[in-house]
Amino acid sequence: MSRDRKIVPLNKEEIMKMRVVCKLAARTLENIAKYVRVGVTTSELDQIVEDFTKTNGASSAPLGYHGFPKSICTSVNSIVCHGVPDQRILKSGDIINVDVTPMKDGFFGDCSASYIVGEVSDVARAIVQTAEIARDKGIEAIVPGATTGDIGFAIDKFVTRKGYTAVKEIGGHGIGRIFHEDPFVPSYGKRGRGDLLVPWHCITVEPMINEGSASVKEFDIPGSTVKYYETSDGKLSAQFEHTILVTETGYEILTLP
Ligand code: MF3
Ligand code: CO
Ligand code: CO
Repeated sequence: MSRDRKIVPLNKEEIMKMRVVCKLAARTLENIAKYVRVGVTTSELDQIVEDFTKTNGASSAPLGYHGFPKSICTSVNSIVCHGVPDQRILKSGDIINVDVTPMKDGFFGDCSASYIVGEVSDVARAIVQTAEIARDKGIEAIVPGATTGDIGFAIDKFVTRKGYTAVKEIGGHGIGRIFHEDPFVPSYGKRGRGDLLVPWHCITVEPMINEGSASVKEFDIPGSTVKYYETSDGKLSAQFEHTILVTETGYEILTLP
């Protein structure tokens, strides 16, 4: 995924536009949560989001992004991220991450959540809960003078203590007028390393956490240069994502309904 190198803070007007599109992203997720049930297909979820997005005067950034064929990503069970919606029917015991990115007025809002479907195992329930807290631990590391390494360190420390692993190859990113830009926001790292966070710039915090091995396998998506990823051992993976505005005193979570 190509990323722009230069980090430019947003002005007041641009920040307002980020607030608007990010709130829409959060409301989109809130809406789709009602449809994540036994028997629904991931394609149906995709269509519901596409309709909701258009109704709200936005477009779906994933659709056509480097050839990506759908409006959202649906990553079930051992799929780590970038799962492509298809005719797969959700069944009791599944976990699914739904990742939405509306684009409005030139700005992107990116968030995702993992959901349990029907009656799930204790392991499935626990990994979903842990992934959400892991994201929040990462966000709380955003204090004045913090680096991307501080975020990654906080996530990895928490995840490891709980007996899970954090995926290294894929992570968060800068976002604004561009869907994916610098900096890369890892889910592991050393305190004080990486890039200094820039006030009035936006980033995502989106750790992917695995039940077993941290390693992932990469798969092609026909007609696209975007890859999708699966755990190398076939065990579960879960993820949550927020878009965050870095401020002079810390952060503001933009993808809240
Ligand atoms: N929304 C994903 C992210 O969090 C990116 C999806 S890109 C796509 O960065 F092409 F796979 F849709
Ligand atoms: Co993202
Ligand atoms: Co996303």
